[in-house]
Amino acid sequence: MNSGTLRTALLLGWSRLPRTTSGTYLHHRRAASAASLLGKLFFLPLRRGTASNRTTRDRRPGEPTVPMDVLRTASARRTFKWQAAGILARTSWVCRSCRSQFVAPKAARRTLATSTTTTTTTPTTPDNKPFYVTTPIFYVNASPHVGHMYSMVLGDVLKRWQTLKGNQAILCTGTDEHGTKVQRAAIANDMDPKQFCDLNSAKFQELAAACRIDYDRFMRTTDQDHVEAVKHFWLLLKEKGLIYEAKHEGWYCVSDECFYPESQLEKRQDPFTGEVYVASIESGNKVEWIEEKNYHFRMTALKDQLLEFYKNNPDWIVPQTRMNQVVDWVTNNLEDLSISRPVSRLSWGIRVPDDESQTIYVWVDALINYITMAGYPYWPPGREHLGGWPVDVHIIGKDILRFHCIYWPALLLALDLPLPKRILSHAHWTMEKKKMSKSIGNVVNPFYAMERFGIDTMRFYMIHNGGIANDADYSNDWLTVEYKKHLQNGVGNLSARVTKPKQWSLRRAVQSYQDGAMLLQPTGEQINDSCVEHITRLDKLASTVDNEMLQLNPSHALQKIMGLIGETNAFISNAEPWVIVKKQDSEALVDRIILTAGESLRIAGILLQPFMPDKAAQLLDLLGVENHNRTFHHARPLVDATYGTAFRTFGKEGIFPPPILDDIKGMGPDAGGKKHSSGNKPSSGNKKPAA
Ligand code: MSP
Repeated sequence: MNSGTLRTALLLGWSRLPRTTSGTYLHHRRAASAASLLGKLFFLPLRRGTASNRTTRDRRPGEPTVPMDVLRTASARRTFKWQAAGILARTSWVCRSCRSQFVAPKAARRTLATSTTTTTTTPTTPDNKPFYVTTPIFYVNASPHVGHMYSMVLGDVLKRWQTLKGNQAILCTGTDEHGTKVQRAAIANDMDPKQFCDLNSAKFQELAAACRIDYDRFMRTTDQDHVEAVKHFWLLLKEKGLIYEAKHEGWYCVSDECFYPESQLEKRQDPFTGEVYVASIESGNKVEWIEEKNYHFRMTALKDQLLEFYKNNPDWIVPQTRMNQVVDWVTNNLEDLSISRPVSRLSWGIRVPDDESQTIYVWVDALINYITMAGYPYWPPGREHLGGWPVDVHIIGKDILRFHCIYWPALLLALDLPLPKRILSHAHWTMEKKKMSKSIGNVVNPFYAMERFGIDTMRFYMIHNGGIANDADYSNDWLTVEYKKHLQNGVGNLSARVTKPKQWSLRRAVQSYQDGAMLLQPTGEQINDSCVEHITRLDKLASTVDNEMLQLNPSHALQKIMGLIGETNAFISNAEPWVIVKKQDSEALVDRIILTAGESLRIAGILLQPFMPDKAAQLLDLLGVENHNRTFHHARPLVDATYGTAFRTFGKEGIFPPPILDDIKGMGPDAGGKKHSSGNKPSSGNKKPAA
């Protein structure tokens, strides 16, 4: 198919229609049975990645075994999505004479997304849309580090929070595989670019699996359905007259894959070689002068719409302060965007659909991944939202703010597509206050770190101490301090106090106070009343934490849960059940104290599930909380009278054993962070060490 035919086909939505070799459409019986087969096969892949990146070993019980080559068919995946939406839409598959017999539901015409309505306010979508979260897709030129893990874990926690609340939620993560940076890295490794990408993308997939990221699709920009989505997007931009060809000259930064205006550049000198070079002020990365003919996106035409959108949505970006940077850039620096490179300069990328001599700009390609995941461009009219779009939260690092908060909304506005609902822009992990980067060589290897400290400890540390507004300094010492304080001596100690002593029984305490109303009666006795107070505070915890999560502040949310654990330990220390138990007729009071502490642990355990899935499950097992009682709605006091008998126990050291210190000789940064000497006190960037 030549590019002209392809272009027409894409615009008319024919390119994926199953045709016979003679080019005629399938007869309806064949079409229907094909659709039904695909329906059967594809009613599975939205969970845990697309079929293309799942193996038969990943198959859940009862799932059909599907040949991988069939699963990889992009059109088939889309058929699944439509069927999932209750739309057997492909009437165009049916021969004309049979159409009248074809039982097609309402919105039956297969339509490629062209436009919806222009919006400069955050869109509202029907409630039946899944809550959609994305992480950035990661460049495959280097191996993953903890900065990447941070983005992934944030996304995972946001998704799991929604699931805990009983909402359908989807998470997309993946790898960004095209562009000069990757092309050069492949050449440097003497590899074919695709082979190089396969190898390195696998490392990010391993990372996602290792840190328990519950993603629904691992997107690769080399995936066929994504390539089609990008080409389609391009053609629509062109149709709208928003693409033009012109000579482009400017400073290009390969590391950041973008042009910088001169106002954003400075001269630097390499301290070792003395070489003077021009670099981006923002990233510090070297730029190179480029002169070439390429395509431009008329972004300046969207300036007023962008500014109006920001004005109408001051809370669109979290933290809010980043909005100023964005508005400032759009007001003072907005230019048309160069959106292609000559193939002679960059061959590793998606070709411009009607000009084989040009490659589509890697950021345009990458950003579109977010709608590919949501089924773009095969959006049935009126049901565009069923695949998840508009996204509820894009998680990004602060270094990619401009691309997500200016270029991306501009591209979407250009096609009248709904804009993302919110952007969570996080700060960076640093090592001794320097951004972790492969070129500096100060990166922390997340695999080593998880092996050393445990998966959930790392997830805990990343979220609890990671920065949203301000950078956080990574430190093994500090990680250990936080582990001991919150997990070993916090949750671990409290769970031992409640479940271990022979003098009392959590089960008996739960049973004896099934009448919650009685427990909430103040009696004027100090201990009784402090139980009442504690339970009253506990009653508010879930909504307080939920509120933090809605504000996109998982760090504060987790700190609130940990705060409750600290308070409960203080409560039990003050109440001294080990003293009371020795007094006569003290059983009821001891039960009351143990139940109060037990309720804190149960509720904390439920709320901790999105943050530390494995450890929270262990805690709830230790407390004997039934699986069906682990939902957000059970995170209130006195709603579960069934728990109290452990499903399993965890030996002398419990769920959070003492950390094994100094077990790694010669710890370089790659072994999980620099080991601090006593003269180099642990620091956590935006967090103060505990008193
Ligand atoms: N490929 C682009 C994103 C395209 S999204 C459509 C990219 N990739 S990246 O691999 O360089 O970075 C991916 C994410 O990791 C970014 O959000 C970036 O901010 C984040 N981090 C990279 N280093 C980081 C730290 N040191 N700390 C925290 N996050 C960091 O940009």
